[in-house]
Amino acid sequence: MPSVYIKTYGCQMNERDSEAVAAQLMAKGYAIADDEKVADVVLLNTCSVRDMAEQKAINKMGDLIGNARKRKTGQKFGFMGCMAQSRGQELIERLPDVDLVLGTQKFHRAAEHVEALLAGTSSKVVDTAEEAGSEATIKEHLFDGTADRHAVTCFVSIMQGCNQYCTFCIVPYTRGRERSRSIEDIVVECRSLVDRGVKEITLLGQIVTSYGKREIGSRDGKSAFVQLIEAVHEIDGLDRIRFTSPHPKGYGDDLIKAFAELPKLVESAHLPVQSGSDRMLKLMHRGYTRARFTEIIAKLRAVKPDIGVGTDIIVGFPGETEADFEETVSLCREIRFQNAFIFKYSQRKDTPAADMPDQLPQEVIEERHARLLAAADEARIEIYQNEIGRRREILVEGPSRKNAAKMEGRTRCNKIVVFDGSSRHTGQLLDVNITGATGTTLYGDPAILNL
Ligand code: SAH
Ligand code: F3S
Repeated sequence: MPSVYIKTYGCQMNERDSEAVAAQLMAKGYAIADDEKVADVVLLNTCSVRDMAEQKAINKMGDLIGNARKRKTGQKFGFMGCMAQSRGQELIERLPDVDLVLGTQKFHRAAEHVEALLAGTSSKVVDTAEEAGSEATIKEHLFDGTADRHAVTCFVSIMQGCNQYCTFCIVPYTRGRERSRSIEDIVVECRSLVDRGVKEITLLGQIVTSYGKREIGSRDGKSAFVQLIEAVHEIDGLDRIRFTSPHPKGYGDDLIKAFAELPKLVESAHLPVQSGSDRMLKLMHRGYTRARFTEIIAKLRAVKPDIGVGTDIIVGFPGETEADFEETVSLCREIRFQNAFIFKYSQRKDTPAADMPDQLPQEVIEERHARLLAAADEARIEIYQNEIGRRREILVEGPSRKNAAKMEGRTRCNKIVVFDGSSRHTGQLLDVNITGATGTTLYGDPAILNL
């Protein structure tokens, strides 16, 4: 049985795409290798959001090819995903031993291309065209039969692409226009996951608040996205719903109301803000102001006071002054994010921001990045420390990633809790007393009721 090794760079969307490709390959009789050296085919699922991610994948491919030549393995190599989409043929010109370049609308063709490569009927394939309906093809899941975290919590891709065109972002070019799956199709997938024991589903897309805008539209004051959440909420046996990533522009009162009214929609909101300066938000083409962002958070906290709020921030966008940057620091102090991903601005080919004046020197970006990290850490550590002494409901996902002798679960607000338990707890909702905390992890004791 020929085997394929898939390495994934980047976001949860990429993880999900790789999983679907792996499941499709397995259905066609391929084994999924866990060692790149023994696999017949190695696929790198790439990320283009920052330059570093691209360089990592290119260097990795160079190493793999060098090794294969030395050992005369005859392995086949492919790039897929965002960098494959944006660089196409150029990747083969740069690394002539690459056999396959598979774009973001072609994941479902992976098995076909792998088969042709192994049979020797094709070589040097670049398949990056747009394909109508491709958004509905990311639906296969991997269940390896063990009671792992995977069987408890799953990601479901609800849409592809993004039309927002933030001036720094390459995603609209690599993922294409927004295309949404139907509510029925998504519910069928979610239901089949729940039938296989899944307890928590994360609805996934680049801009989920734009889900179904054109295809489905609003009804009774509810956006298509809220209609989708309600439909998934109906599924018996499903305990929790999450989603990522929404956009502040589409974060309407109907979505706030959903948090208030739908108990399975857990108290967790990852809402990328990017900057605390209105001037920067405008240059970034984000479509909201700082005041609008803080208003959304205030509304969420009004209905769910404990809600875990996360965000993405970019420091060093072209033209960012010290005063603009200070506004981002002050926003972090004001909101107190549970979790902030802070990125150094990375110039991306063909994006409007790449040609803007006042690109900042790397030292300035590094220095601001460190300062903002410190401010964000302060809030996060305090939020985690404040959990000590509370009782929280966790969904147990499996053995702890940090210490295999322990188990771990996640609170509704999206904090990991490590506790003494056993694999029979996997998939259960447990109440735990929080007894300790670091800046990223909680420690808990399962609460023994009636004592
Ligand atoms: N809506 C998607 C955005 C994908 S990019 C999602 O939330 O998954 C993820 C994050 O990467 C963005 O929110 C942004 O903070 C960051 N990012 C995007 N382009 C970037 C760039 N050119 N430089 C640095 N960070 C960037
Ligand atoms: Fe990128 Fe902005 Fe869309 S960050 S994914 S263009 S919302």
